[in-house]
Amino acid sequence: MRKWLLGGLGLLLLLCGGGVAAVVWLVSGTAVDTVGKVAFDRPLKIPPLAPSTVGADGTRVFDLTAQPGASDLGHGANTRTWGYNGSYLGPTLRAARGERVAVNVHNRLNEPTTVHWHGMHLPAKVDGGPHHPIPPGSDYQAAWTVDQPAATLWYHPHPSDRTERQVYRGLAGLFILDDDQQPAGLPHEYGVDDVPVVVQDKGFDGDQLSMSDRFGSDVGILGDELLVNGTPGPFLDVRTTLVRLRLLNASTARVYDFTMSDGRPLTMIGTDGGLLAAPYSTDHVRLSVGERAEVVVAMRPGERVELRSRATGLGRFHGGRDSFDVLQLRAAGDLKAGTLPEKLADIQRLDPKQAAQRRTFTFQGRDINDDGMDMDRVDAVVVKDTTEVWNVANGHGTPHSFHIHDVQFQVLSVDGAAPPPELGGWKDTLFLEPGRRYSVIAAFADYADPTTAYMFHCHVLRHEDEGMMGQFVVVEREGDKPRLGHN
Ligand code: C2O
Ligand code: CU
Repeated sequence: MRKWLLGGLGLLLLLCGGGVAAVVWLVSGTAVDTVGKVAFDRPLKIPPLAPSTVGADGTRVFDLTAQPGASDLGHGANTRTWGYNGSYLGPTLRAARGERVAVNVHNRLNEPTTVHWHGMHLPAKVDGGPHHPIPPGSDYQAAWTVDQPAATLWYHPHPSDRTERQVYRGLAGLFILDDDQQPAGLPHEYGVDDVPVVVQDKGFDGDQLSMSDRFGSDVGILGDELLVNGTPGPFLDVRTTLVRLRLLNASTARVYDFTMSDGRPLTMIGTDGGLLAAPYSTDHVRLSVGERAEVVVAMRPGERVELRSRATGLGRFHGGRDSFDVLQLRAAGDLKAGTLPEKLADIQRLDPKQAAQRRTFTFQGRDINDDGMDMDRVDAVVVKDTTEVWNVANGHGTPHSFHIHDVQFQVLSVDGAAPPPELGGWKDTLFLEPGRRYSVIAAFADYADPTTAYMFHCHVLRHEDEGMMGQFVVVEREGDKPRLGHN
């Protein structure tokens, strides 16, 4: 229907003599293809590890300042951007399981923001959702104890209505968790053989970021250039036979399907919430908005090979025909050899027979179960220390990305069948392909607070801003009622 409408609109433009642009659009199908056209002339920037201090009580304290600045994103030095502790993106926070952390957030923007710790198991009060805006000029502290497996998590703003623009301007960063279960043999030298790869698409209008949608987009802003860690046309010098890439899709809308330019395998070792049980070799890794994957690429001395993103097959109004060169890996003449371990992690399977509750959420239009976000409505009351099965369906033709705060979940099935290996680990974000049904299971442990809600939502940030979000409250005991306290 939508396509016909847009086709009609194109024809109308044509008839109106608005001519050339409409013809080009109709004929070209607006696909972006940067493969073979990227210069790879800039060294990949590595986000610095955030400094921290450890107080007398053992708390590791970080500082994050959200601030405006100017960046060189490939269109001159004066592109207006936002960042944490800098002009674009933020430093990588890093902490270990068992540590108490505190982050002091300073808002030096001219609008409210929040910081959400995506993938982190923590109390709702410090989750950084839209209920707790940090006004311009003010400060906020979030503190919690890290208690989950080693993983590549991230942080980003989560204010009402402004998340897409704030992330697009540059507010995002990684939060890496460590534990003492790391198998020997995994590359782990940050920025050397263990490399953050934060992928984002951008459009430009002259030397400034373009905030306008591509014609007909159903998912918000879709850019025609890529940045990795804020670097346009990046290359990475590699000195080991195994290089671990921590891939994060920190775009606002785009789905990527990563491959290597010569078809060599990507060995997947981790998903959103931690390591897989065992390495899994594949020729492509698809990531929807907010998802992470840890992969290991094998390199031979002296060679160059590129990470690419191929067409996803989603419709043109979702950027599905676009393909990109992402990052060039350049191996030194002499590489330090490594071998991957055969076993990575013990993943305790959650048992759906033990589920205290089953719920169904259907994503359609901008609604979940026919409702838009309402900060005064609680969509699910969950009892602490119980397990729930959530059946999540995408009821129409638009791709969505399903994210639950506070927990990591396991995928039980996709359209009734066992999930593919890349969905075999801990997840906090799941690509909802058009028309498909998914079943996931999660344990809601530790934190009950009847006064504060956690979110679940679509991570396509335009959809989230437009209200494709619901709330759940974790209560201490069966029968306890939520008492939302934000107003
Ligand atoms: Cu990454 Cu509710 O967000
Ligand atoms: Cu969506």
